[in-house]
Amino acid sequence: MQALSTPTTMEDSQQNAHSNNKIPEPLRKLAELSLSPDASPVLVPMTPQDVDLWKDFIEYKENRKSWDTWREEDWKKNHPAHIHEIFNNWPVLETPRLRLRLLRESDLQDAFNVLSNPKAMKYYGTPPHENIEFTRKQHIEIMLSRFKFRDAASFVITFKGEDKFIGHVNAFQFDRVFKFVELAYIVDPELWGKGIATEAVGRVVEFLRDDMKIHKIRAALFAHNIASKRVLEKVGFVQEGYLRDNVIIDGEFENEYVMAYIASKESM
Ligand SMILES: CC(C)(COP(=O)(O)OP(=O)(O)OC[C@H]1O[C@@H](n2cnc3c(N)ncnc32)[C@H](O)[C@@H]1OP(=O)(O)O)[C@@H](O)C(=O)NCCC(=O)NCCS
Repeated sequence: MQALSTPTTMEDSQQNAHSNNKIPEPLRKLAELSLSPDASPVLVPMTPQDVDLWKDFIEYKENRKSWDTWREEDWKKNHPAHIHEIFNNWPVLETPRLRLRLLRESDLQDAFNVLSNPKAMKYYGTPPHENIEFTRKQHIEIMLSRFKFRDAASFVITFKGEDKFIGHVNAFQFDRVFKFVELAYIVDPELWGKGIATEAVGRVVEFLRDDMKIHKIRAALFAHNIASKRVLEKVGFVQEGYLRDNVIIDGEFENEYVMAYIASKESM
């Protein structure tokens, strides 16, 4: 690895900032700091380049704010009217045994119990959650924020008369005009094999097709995930692709199926 030299003049420092390794000055300084708890505090003086970086950062933060505004304007221009209606009055879906309602912060503990279970997560695509804070930040907060930006919706699966998270069906990556979406789902392993996923996914597919007027619903699943493939086939998905060595699970390459449901013209 190339050694980092300390700039002696402003010119040197500017050249360094644009040199091949392109490590910005403040990062270089941070890299040189000792992380030992016994290390004495170090004053890192700001250079003109640091100030420029800081300004860039502030500008970036301000742009993020205007991005929120832009997103809202974009919705008004591009989303069909029925999409506004649905997002403003998100429905609770029912099946003979189940109630599918939006995710809430209070689902944290029950969601963690399922998402930390290695058996449930084996084919889910992400490792089991190691602690409840991870579930709060990486599942609950992200899904709620994605819902706010109309990019995803997490249907929590509950039994009728018992408002407890037993799994979910997530619809995510809605495209800009709400014609395409992806699905991912999970059920508490204690309840596998009772037809719960088929009932829940089937109802969500109906809602996406009939109410949201989505044209194509997609799902990708690992080739060993026979139960998931069966669920999709039972609710009308068709295999579209077979991707070889497409992901790594437990250090091994794994093939993936791509399955999709296309709404018929009559339902549009
Ligand atoms: C996939 C999953 C949601 C299915 O939940 P479920 O409530 O048990 O599903 P259902 O009972 O509705 O249906 C399961 C179907 O798979 C079949 N099945 C289950 N394991 C099977 C196996 N090893 N071989 C063949 N078929 C199998 C069942 O027999 C049933 O089909 P059938 O009704 O024709 O008999 C559940 O296994 C799960 O949560 N897995 C972990 C998360 C995951 O893989 N999610 C999908 C990623 S997109």
